Amino acid sequence: MQAIDPAGTFTLGGRTVRRLGYGAMQLAGPGVFGPPRDRGAALAVLREAVTAGVDHIDTSDFYGPHVTNQIIREALAPYPDDLVIVTKVGAARGDDASWNPAYGADQLERAVHDNLRNLGLETLDVVNLRIMFDVHGPAEGSIAEPLKVLADLQRQGLVRHIGLSNVTPTQVEEGRGLAEIVCVQNQYNLAHRDDDALIDALAEDGIAYVPFFPLGGFSPLQSTALSDVAARLGATPMQVALAWLLRRSPNILLIPGTSSVAHLRENLAAASLILPDDAVAALEGIGRA
Ligand SMILES: NC(=O)c1ccc[n+]([C@@H]2O[C@H](COP(=O)([O-])OP(=O)(O)OC[C@H]3O[C@@H](n4cnc5c(N)ncnc54)[C@H](OP(=O)(O)O)[C@@H]3O)[C@@H](O)[C@H]2O)c1
Repeated sequence: MQAIDPAGTFTLGGRTVRRLGYGAMQLAGPGVFGPPRDRGAALAVLREAVTAGVDHIDTSDFYGPHVTNQIIREALAPYPDDLVIVTKVGAARGDDASWNPAYGADQLERAVHDNLRNLGLETLDVVNLRIMFDVHGPAEGSIAEPLKVLADLQRQGLVRHIGLSNVTPTQVEEGRGLAEIVCVQNQYNLAHRDDDALIDALAEDGIAYVPFFPLGGFSPLQSTALSDVAARLGATPMQVALAWLLRRSPNILLIPGTSSVAHLRENLAAASLILPDDAVAALEGIGRA
C-alpha cells in the first residue's frame, strides 16, 4: 500500500499504472538544456518518486538533450518491473537550445536509438510522436508519414506502444486509423482546457490522456480562486490543481514535473485530496476567463 494509491490506476500501454506519475523534464539544466545545477538532487527526486510508488515516468532524449535520460538510468536502472517509462520523439534541440521539428525517417530512427541507449533499454515501453507543426500548440496537418515510420520501428520490436503529443482531435483520429494509440499527451490544466471534448472521447475508448504542464508549466498556475480553495482545504494551490485533474476524468494520468524532493512530496500528497463540489465550482472560472 502506497500513499498515492487513493488516486487510483489506469491502463497505459497494456500495463496498469498509478495515476500519479512523474515528469522528468525539470531534471535537466535551465531551459531544459545541459546538465542540472545539482545532479545529486535530480537523482534523489527520481529515487524518491519510485520509492513513493510512482510507476510512470515521462521523459525524452531531447531533454538536455540526453541528460535527463542518462540521469533516469543512473538513478533507477536496473528498473523495477512495474515501471513504465514513456518517452517522445519528433523534436531535436539546436545548439542554441531551440526546439526544432525532427520527424524525418532517419531522425525518428536515431531518436528511438538515442532513447534506448541513454535509458539502457532494449525496448521502449511507450513512445509519443510529438507533433511540431507549431511548437507551442496543436496545429492541423497530416501526421501519417512520421507515424508510419514509428509504427515500423514498433514492428521491429524497438517500441512497444505508440502515443501522440501536441495533436488535434483530427490528428488523433487519423493516427488511430494507422496505429494503436495508447495515450495522448497535450497541454491541459485548470487554466487551459481546450481538450475537454477530446478527454471525454478518449475516456470512452479507454485511452489515457496525459496532460503536460499540469501545474501550468514553467510559470506555475497563480490565481486567487485557486489560492482561496487551497487555503480552505488546508492544501497547497499545486495540490488543488492536481486533485482537480484527478477528479476531471478517470483516464487522466498525472506527470507533474519538479526538480525538488519537497515539491515532489507535496505533489504526490495530492492523491488523497478530495475536492468537494463547491471547490470545483469555485475553480470553474479559472479556465473560462
Ligand atoms: N509533450 C510535450 O510537448 C511536453 C511539453 C512539456 C512538458 N512535458 C512533460 O510534462 C511534464 C510536466 O510538465 P512541466 O514539468 O513542464 O510542468 P508542470 O508540471 O506544470 O510544472 C513544473 C513547474 O512547477 C514547479 N513546481 C512543481 N511542483 C511544485 C510545487 N509543489 N510547488 C511549487 N512549484 C512547483 C516546478 O519547479 P521546481 O522544479 O522548483 O519544483 C516547475 O517550474 C514534464 O516533466 C514533461 O515530462 C511534455
